[in-house]
Amino acid sequence: MGVVKPVKSSLRRAAAAIRQARLVAFPTETVYGLGALAGSPRAVLRLYAAKGRPRFNPLIAHVATAGEAHRLVRFDDRAELLARHFWPGPLTMVLPRLPGAAVSRIACAGLPTLGVRVPDHPVALALLRAAGRPIVAPSANPSGRLSPTRAGDVARTLGGRVTMVLDGGPCRVGLESTIVDLTCRPARLLRPGGIAREAIERLIGRLDAAGGAIIAPGMLESHYAPRARLRLRARSAEAGEAFLGFGQMPPLAPEIPALNLSPNGDLTEAAHNLFSFLQTLDRPHVRTIAVAPIPTFGVGLAIQDRLARAAAPR
Ligand code: TXA
Ligand code: MG
Repeated sequence: MGVVKPVKSSLRRAAAAIRQARLVAFPTETVYGLGALAGSPRAVLRLYAAKGRPRFNPLIAHVATAGEAHRLVRFDDRAELLARHFWPGPLTMVLPRLPGAAVSRIACAGLPTLGVRVPDHPVALALLRAAGRPIVAPSANPSGRLSPTRAGDVARTLGGRVTMVLDGGPCRVGLESTIVDLTCRPARLLRPGGIAREAIERLIGRLDAAGGAIIAPGMLESHYAPRARLRLRARSAEAGEAFLGFGQMPPLAPEIPALNLSPNGDLTEAAHNLFSFLQTLDRPHVRTIAVAPIPTFGVGLAIQDRLARAAAPR
């Protein structure tokens, strides 16, 4: 495994590795993805194995343009509108999968639908163009753990299992894409993420909450978990804890490790910092990470979602 700078030659090698059914981790604007050739059952099986991901959890297909997405899934009026507004960008749309789509059935976990997105990152787009086919990519972490927003996080946790990690620096958004299920009316919000729910609702109307039978499995209760426990809506921290703040910090004893997601209370900045700060505070002697209250509007909803799952019983 090598962590490599994404230059012409390494991108060419990465694309060749993908076409040979090997795994390549690459940066997107949300988090690092673990990429595999979508149409190859062998590659997709390798991907599930590398992450230790349950096979019932489907993967998102990444493509370089909306035009390519049209070859994988059936768009409706709402999907066209959302694609025009938010692609490239942190929006995944779940749509009916087209027969003959170049995505292995294994990646769809038996569902008649497929999640698709066009990432907004030059390295991701360059890799997709060089590979010339759709790439399925979950977040590049062992299943259930924190999503990686830096190449080093990937190397540390999955290093031995990937052919190459393309290092594009820290991810801009820091949280995964927003997932909207457009196979029903009203559409459903399956996972809050990098695009605010309100921005989507302005275009296509109210979104239903996910629920009922669909388990969009980032919806498994416990997920995104550091090793330490999490204590939410904390106003302070005691011995043995670390503190993850937002806005004004409370007075803390000097031995308490502490970081501030955003001293000015900016949710976009907090999202960008969330996973990497949790990684940093997740040290051996820290039993619990106490996390300050976070507002739940805009991207705050996604932050809250990740924190709640990280805090869920395991
Ligand atoms: O920002 C992102 O979306 C990142 C980057 C790498 O693109 N990818 C990502 O993938 O977060 P992953 O596998 O960690 O999360 C994808 C989520 C899972 O919760 C999965 O269950 C859900 O999307 N999903 C995928 N296909 C689906 C489908 N057809 N129906 C419902 N949920 C689906
Ligand atoms: Mg994930």
